[in-house]
Amino acid sequence: MEALIKIENLCVKYEEKVALDGIDLIINEGEKIGIIGPNGAGKSTLLLAIKGLIKFTGKISFPGIRRSDVGLVFQNPDIQLFMPTVFDDVAFGPINQNLTETEVKVRVKESLEKVGLSGFEKRPPHHLSEGEKKKVAIATVLSMKPSVYLFDEPTTGLDPLSKYEITKILCSIDRTMLIATHDLELISKVTDRTIILNDGKLMAEGYTQDILTNKELLARNKLYPLEQLLKCR
Ligand SMILES: Nc1ncnc2c1ncn2[C@@H]1O[C@H](COP(=O)(O)OP(=O)(O)O)[C@@H](O)[C@H]1O
Ligand SMILES: [Mg+2]
Repeated sequence: MEALIKIENLCVKYEEKVALDGIDLIINEGEKIGIIGPNGAGKSTLLLAIKGLIKFTGKISFPGIRRSDVGLVFQNPDIQLFMPTVFDDVAFGPINQNLTETEVKVRVKESLEKVGLSGFEKRPPHHLSEGEKKKVAIATVLSMKPSVYLFDEPTTGLDPLSKYEITKILCSIDRTMLIATHDLELISKVTDRTIILNDGKLMAEGYTQDILTNKELLARNKLYPLEQLLKCR
């Protein structure tokens, strides 16, 4: 497997708070990796550092790709959606990639189809439901066809149907991805590998199935065991 992203001794400090403390991680092509951990563990910080949006020490290299080939879907869609219409938001990335008008239109059409929102082109994003906003935010990244997707809490705060739909969308994306989430059901369905972050440290790394069935490990990291969720598989 080819490494797409290599993280070595990554440390992030916000004023006095150490948010990430010596993280080492290799992300190989095609891997779908879950990042779990309690609130404040450093999950979002890890994604922001990979995307290059915050200051860090240590090294993040991209042997097989460019950093611009990494697409981040923010936890809060209101940060991602800033144009007057859904079309403009989803077209924004492809336009910046200097695609032709026809190509941009195709990208927007395909991306909205993929998230189940064909026909939403003229709607103002700020009037959509939370679930719809999350889906449009995903479409704004899909339309750029990145090599690696970073999802920050893609299902958090959504009703069961929206969670189900977004889980399906993530399942259907055949690309390397990292998913930071509290939603253990989501990572059990979508990811092969999972890491646990706690207080800025990488506490465990392994097959998702092994991590999610290790009650003692989960409890130690303020994550609760999950029998009832594992039954859903
Ligand atoms: N902009 C910021 N300024 C100061 N502290 C921050 C900032 N962003 C995050 N933190 C702190 O860094 C730690 C990790 O935060 P975060 O990466 O958001 O965790 P998670 O996504 O796992 O909930 C937390 O203690 C949080 O309060
Ligand atoms: Mg977070």
